[in-house]
Amino acid sequence: MSDAAITAAVESAVARGYHRLRTSALSHIEAEPFLRAGFEPDQQLALLTRPIQSGFSHRGAGFAIREAHQNGSIAIRRGRRRDHPSVLAVDQAAFEPLWRLDQAGLLDALRATPFRHFRVVRSDADTVLTGYAISGRSGPAGYLQRLAISPHHQGQGTGATLVIDGLRWMARWGATRAWVNTPQHNTGALRLYEHLGFELVPPGLQVLETVLEP
Ligand SMILES: CC(C)(COP(=O)(O)OP(=O)(O)OC[C@H]1O[C@@H](n2cnc3c(N)ncnc32)[C@H](O)[C@@H]1OP(=O)(O)O)[C@@H](O)C(=O)NCCC(=O)NCCS
Repeated sequence: MSDAAITAAVESAVARGYHRLRTSALSHIEAEPFLRAGFEPDQQLALLTRPIQSGFSHRGAGFAIREAHQNGSIAIRRGRRRDHPSVLAVDQAAFEPLWRLDQAGLLDALRATPFRHFRVVRSDADTVLTGYAISGRSGPAGYLQRLAISPHHQGQGTGATLVIDGLRWMARWGATRAWVNTPQHNTGALRLYEHLGFELVPPGLQVLETVLEP
Protein backbone atom coordinates (compact mmCIF):
# COMPACT_ATOMS: atom_id res chain seq x y z
CA MET A 1 0.00 0.00 0.00
CA SER A 2 1.39 3.44 -0.88
CA ASP A 3 2.07 6.15 1.71
CA ALA A 4 -0.69 8.26 0.14
CA ALA A 5 -3.23 5.40 0.32
CA ILE A 6 -2.41 4.84 4.01
CA THR A 7 -2.81 8.57 4.76
CA ALA A 8 -6.18 8.52 2.96
CA ALA A 9 -7.30 5.41 4.89
CA VAL A 10 -6.34 7.02 8.22
CA GLU A 11 -8.16 10.26 7.35
CA SER A 12 -11.24 8.34 6.28
CA ALA A 13 -11.23 6.31 9.55
CA VAL A 14 -10.94 9.53 11.61
CA ALA A 15 -13.82 11.09 9.64
CA ARG A 16 -15.96 8.01 10.36
CA GLY A 17 -15.31 8.32 14.09
CA TYR A 18 -12.96 5.36 14.60
CA HIS A 19 -10.51 5.52 17.52
CA ARG A 20 -8.09 2.80 16.45
CA LEU A 21 -7.05 1.33 13.14
CA ARG A 22 -5.63 -2.17 12.86
CA THR A 23 -4.07 -3.71 9.74
CA SER A 24 -4.57 -7.23 8.43
CA ALA A 25 -1.62 -9.64 8.74
CA LEU A 26 1.30 -8.07 6.88
CA SER A 27 4.71 -9.31 5.81
CA HIS A 28 7.60 -7.24 7.05
CA ILE A 29 7.97 -5.55 3.65
CA GLU A 30 4.24 -4.75 3.52
CA ALA A 31 4.49 -3.33 7.05
CA GLU A 32 7.16 -0.73 6.19
CA PRO A 33 4.89 2.07 4.89
CA PHE A 34 2.51 1.57 7.84
CA LEU A 35 5.40 1.89 10.29
CA ARG A 36 6.50 5.08 8.49
CA ALA A 37 2.94 6.37 8.97
CA GLY A 38 3.16 5.86 12.75
CA PHE A 39 1.53 2.43 13.11
CA GLU A 40 3.03 0.20 15.81
CA PRO A 41 3.35 -3.60 16.08
CA ASP A 42 0.38 -5.10 17.91
CA GLN A 43 0.47 -8.86 17.24
CA GLN A 44 3.17 -11.17 15.91
CA LEU A 45 1.91 -14.06 13.81
CA ALA A 46 3.67 -17.26 12.86
CA LEU A 47 3.48 -18.02 9.13
CA LEU A 48 3.62 -21.67 8.10
CA THR A 49 3.64 -23.41 4.76
CA ARG A 50 3.81 -26.87 3.28
CA PRO A 51 3.93 -28.23 -0.26
CA ILE A 52 0.91 -30.15 -1.54
CA GLN A 53 1.39 -33.04 -3.90
CA SER A 54 -1.42 -34.18 -6.15
CA GLY A 55 -3.17 -37.15 -4.54
CA PHE A 56 -2.28 -35.65 -1.17
CA SER A 57 -2.40 -37.98 1.74
CA HIS A 58 -0.69 -37.62 5.07
CA ARG A 59 0.08 -40.78 7.00
CA GLY A 60 -0.61 -39.44 10.46
CA ALA A 61 -3.41 -37.33 9.13
CA GLY A 62 -5.01 -40.22 7.28
CA PHE A 63 -4.95 -42.13 10.53
CA ALA A 64 -6.76 -39.31 12.32
CA ILE A 65 -9.52 -39.32 9.71
CA ARG A 66 -9.91 -43.12 9.77
CA GLU A 67 -10.02 -43.15 13.53
CA ALA A 68 -12.62 -40.41 13.70
CA HIS A 69 -14.79 -42.05 11.07
CA GLN A 70 -14.51 -45.50 12.64
CA ASN A 71 -15.72 -44.06 15.91
CA GLY A 72 -18.61 -42.60 13.97
CA SER A 73 -17.89 -39.46 15.93
CA ILE A 74 -17.45 -36.76 13.30
CA ALA A 75 -19.76 -35.70 10.50
CA ILE A 76 -18.34 -33.12 8.08
CA ARG A 77 -20.58 -31.33 5.62
CA ARG A 78 -20.63 -28.19 3.52
CA GLY A 79 -21.24 -25.00 5.50
CA ARG A 80 -24.35 -23.07 4.54
CA ARG A 81 -25.65 -19.58 5.08
CA ARG A 82 -28.04 -20.82 7.76
CA ASP A 83 -25.06 -22.25 9.68
CA HIS A 84 -23.54 -18.79 10.16
CA PRO A 85 -25.01 -18.19 13.66
CA SER A 86 -23.78 -21.60 14.88
CA VAL A 87 -20.40 -21.10 13.22
CA LEU A 88 -20.05 -17.72 14.93
CA ALA A 89 -20.97 -19.33 18.27
CA VAL A 90 -18.18 -21.91 17.80
CA ASP A 91 -15.80 -19.11 16.83
CA GLN A 92 -16.67 -17.05 19.90
CA ALA A 93 -16.19 -20.03 22.20
CA ALA A 94 -12.88 -21.08 20.63
CA PHE A 95 -11.04 -17.77 20.16
CA GLU A 96 -9.91 -15.16 22.63
CA PRO A 97 -11.79 -11.84 22.20
CA LEU A 98 -9.30 -10.10 19.89
CA TRP A 99 -9.51 -12.86 17.28
CA ARG A 100 -13.26 -13.57 17.35
CA LEU A 101 -15.18 -13.06 14.12
CA ASP A 102 -18.47 -11.24 13.75
CA GLN A 103 -20.79 -11.77 10.78
CA ALA A 104 -18.86 -9.26 8.63
CA GLY A 105 -15.57 -10.95 9.51
CA LEU A 106 -17.00 -14.36 8.61
CA LEU A 107 -18.14 -13.05 5.23
CA ASP A 108 -14.68 -11.51 4.69
CA ALA A 109 -13.05 -14.88 5.41
CA LEU A 110 -15.43 -16.58 2.95
CA ARG A 111 -14.73 -13.98 0.25
CA ALA A 112 -10.99 -13.58 0.79
CA THR A 113 -10.06 -15.81 -2.15
CA PRO A 114 -11.65 -16.55 -5.54
CA PHE A 115 -12.45 -20.13 -4.48
CA ARG A 116 -13.37 -21.42 -1.05
CA HIS A 117 -14.17 -24.61 0.81
CA PHE A 118 -16.40 -24.11 3.86
CA ARG A 119 -16.97 -27.14 6.06
CA VAL A 120 -18.77 -27.59 9.37
CA VAL A 121 -18.64 -30.48 11.82
CA ARG A 122 -20.93 -31.87 14.44
CA SER A 123 -20.44 -34.89 16.63
CA ASP A 124 -23.00 -37.69 16.57
CA ALA A 125 -24.01 -36.91 20.10
CA ASP A 126 -24.66 -33.24 19.33
CA THR A 127 -27.14 -31.42 17.21
CA VAL A 128 -25.13 -28.21 17.45
CA LEU A 129 -22.00 -27.60 15.41
CA THR A 130 -18.71 -28.40 17.11
CA GLY A 131 -16.26 -26.97 14.59
CA TYR A 132 -15.73 -25.35 11.23
CA ALA A 133 -13.00 -24.60 8.72
CA ILE A 134 -12.68 -22.24 5.78
CA SER A 135 -10.01 -22.92 3.18
CA GLY A 136 -9.33 -20.71 0.20
CA ARG A 137 -7.53 -21.05 -3.11
CA SER A 138 -6.02 -18.55 -5.45
CA GLY A 139 -4.03 -20.01 -8.35
CA PRO A 140 -1.43 -22.44 -7.01
CA ALA A 141 -1.75 -21.16 -3.43
CA GLY A 142 -4.10 -22.63 -0.84
CA TYR A 143 -4.89 -20.90 2.43
CA LEU A 144 -6.25 -22.26 5.69
CA GLN A 145 -8.28 -19.15 6.41
CA ARG A 146 -10.07 -20.12 9.57
CA LEU A 147 -10.32 -23.12 11.88
CA ALA A 148 -12.10 -23.44 15.20
CA ILE A 149 -13.28 -26.32 17.35
CA SER A 150 -15.54 -25.81 20.39
CA PRO A 151 -13.46 -26.09 23.58
CA HIS A 152 -15.28 -29.23 24.84
CA HIS A 153 -14.56 -31.02 21.56
CA GLN A 154 -10.89 -30.13 21.18
CA GLY A 155 -8.17 -32.77 21.34
CA GLN A 156 -10.25 -35.44 19.58
CA GLY A 157 -8.77 -35.16 16.08
CA THR A 158 -11.44 -32.86 14.66
CA GLY A 159 -9.05 -29.99 13.92
CA ALA A 160 -6.65 -32.33 12.13
CA THR A 161 -9.52 -33.90 10.17
CA LEU A 162 -10.67 -30.49 8.95
CA VAL A 163 -7.15 -29.37 8.00
CA ILE A 164 -6.58 -32.57 6.01
CA ASP A 165 -9.95 -32.17 4.32
CA GLY A 166 -8.91 -28.63 3.31
CA LEU A 167 -5.52 -29.81 2.02
CA ARG A 168 -7.20 -32.54 -0.03
CA TRP A 169 -9.53 -29.95 -1.57
CA MET A 170 -6.52 -27.76 -2.46
CA ALA A 171 -4.70 -30.72 -4.01
CA ARG A 172 -7.78 -31.75 -5.99
CA TRP A 173 -7.83 -28.35 -7.68
CA GLY A 174 -4.11 -28.21 -8.41
CA ALA A 175 -2.84 -26.01 -5.58
CA THR A 176 0.83 -26.77 -4.95
CA ARG A 177 1.45 -24.98 -1.67
CA ALA A 178 -0.65 -24.35 1.45
CA TRP A 179 -0.28 -21.41 3.80
CA VAL A 180 -1.59 -20.66 7.27
CA ASN A 181 -0.88 -18.09 9.95
CA THR A 182 -1.67 -18.04 13.64
CA PRO A 183 -0.64 -15.93 16.66
CA GLN A 184 2.87 -16.86 17.77
CA HIS A 185 1.60 -17.86 21.22
CA ASN A 186 -1.06 -20.26 19.84
CA THR A 187 0.93 -23.37 20.70
CA GLY A 188 -2.01 -25.75 20.16
CA ALA A 189 -2.54 -24.61 16.58
CA LEU A 190 1.22 -24.52 15.88
CA ARG A 191 1.59 -28.10 17.09
CA LEU A 192 -1.36 -29.21 14.96
CA TYR A 193 0.04 -27.58 11.80
CA GLU A 194 3.56 -28.88 12.42
CA HIS A 195 2.15 -32.40 12.93
CA LEU A 196 0.56 -32.04 9.52
CA GLY A 197 3.80 -31.15 7.76
CA PHE A 198 3.75 -27.35 7.91
CA GLU A 199 7.02 -25.52 8.53
CA LEU A 200 7.58 -22.06 9.95
CA VAL A 201 8.53 -19.27 7.57
CA PRO A 202 10.50 -16.69 9.58
CA PRO A 203 10.07 -13.85 10.41
CA GLY A 204 6.32 -14.44 10.12
CA LEU A 205 3.70 -11.73 9.83
CA GLN A 206 2.60 -8.84 11.98
CA VAL A 207 -0.56 -6.92 12.72
CA LEU A 208 -0.01 -3.18 13.25
CA GLU A 209 -2.20 -0.70 15.02
CA THR A 210 -2.48 3.07 15.39
CA VAL A 211 -4.50 5.19 17.78
CA LEU A 212 -6.40 7.87 15.85
CA GLU A 213 -6.59 11.44 16.98
CA PRO A 214 -9.64 13.44 15.88
C1 LIG B 1 -6.23 -25.38 17.26
C2 LIG B 1 -7.52 -26.22 17.17
C3 LIG B 1 -8.25 -25.89 15.89
C4 LIG B 1 -7.10 -27.69 17.18
O1 LIG B 1 -8.27 -28.49 17.03
P1 LIG B 1 -8.41 -29.88 17.79
O2 LIG B 1 -9.60 -30.57 17.27
O3 LIG B 1 -8.35 -29.63 19.25
O4 LIG B 1 -7.06 -30.58 17.32
P2 LIG B 1 -6.81 -32.13 17.19
O5 LIG B 1 -7.54 -32.87 18.25
O6 LIG B 1 -7.04 -32.52 15.79
O7 LIG B 1 -5.27 -32.17 17.55
C5 LIG B 1 -4.31 -32.55 16.64
C6 LIG B 1 -2.94 -32.29 17.26
O8 LIG B 1 -2.77 -30.89 17.47
C7 LIG B 1 -2.18 -30.64 18.74
N1 LIG B 1 -3.06 -29.80 19.54
C8 LIG B 1 -4.32 -29.43 19.26
N2 LIG B 1 -4.80 -28.59 20.21
C9 LIG B 1 -3.81 -28.44 21.12
C10 LIG B 1 -3.68 -27.69 22.32
N3 LIG B 1 -4.69 -26.91 22.78
N4 LIG B 1 -2.52 -27.75 23.00
C11 LIG B 1 -1.50 -28.51 22.52
N5 LIG B 1 -1.56 -29.24 21.38
C12 LIG B 1 -2.69 -29.20 20.70
C13 LIG B 1 -1.94 -31.91 19.38
O9 LIG B 1 -0.55 -32.15 19.16
C14 LIG B 1 -2.74 -32.93 18.62
O10 LIG B 1 -1.95 -34.03 18.43
P3 LIG B 1 -2.04 -35.28 19.43
O11 LIG B 1 -3.22 -36.07 18.94
O12 LIG B 1 -0.74 -35.95 19.23
O13 LIG B 1 -2.22 -34.72 20.80
C15 LIG B 1 -8.45 -25.98 18.39
O14 LIG B 1 -7.69 -26.18 19.56
C16 LIG B 1 -9.08 -24.60 18.42
O15 LIG B 1 -10.16 -24.38 17.88
N6 LIG B 1 -8.40 -23.64 19.05
C17 LIG B 1 -8.90 -22.27 19.16
C18 LIG B 1 -8.98 -21.58 17.82
C19 LIG B 1 -7.67 -21.65 17.06
O16 LIG B 1 -6.60 -21.47 17.63
N7 LIG B 1 -7.77 -21.89 15.75
C20 LIG B 1 -6.62 -21.97 14.88
C21 LIG B 1 -6.10 -20.61 14.66
S1 LIG B 1 -5.30 -20.43 13.13
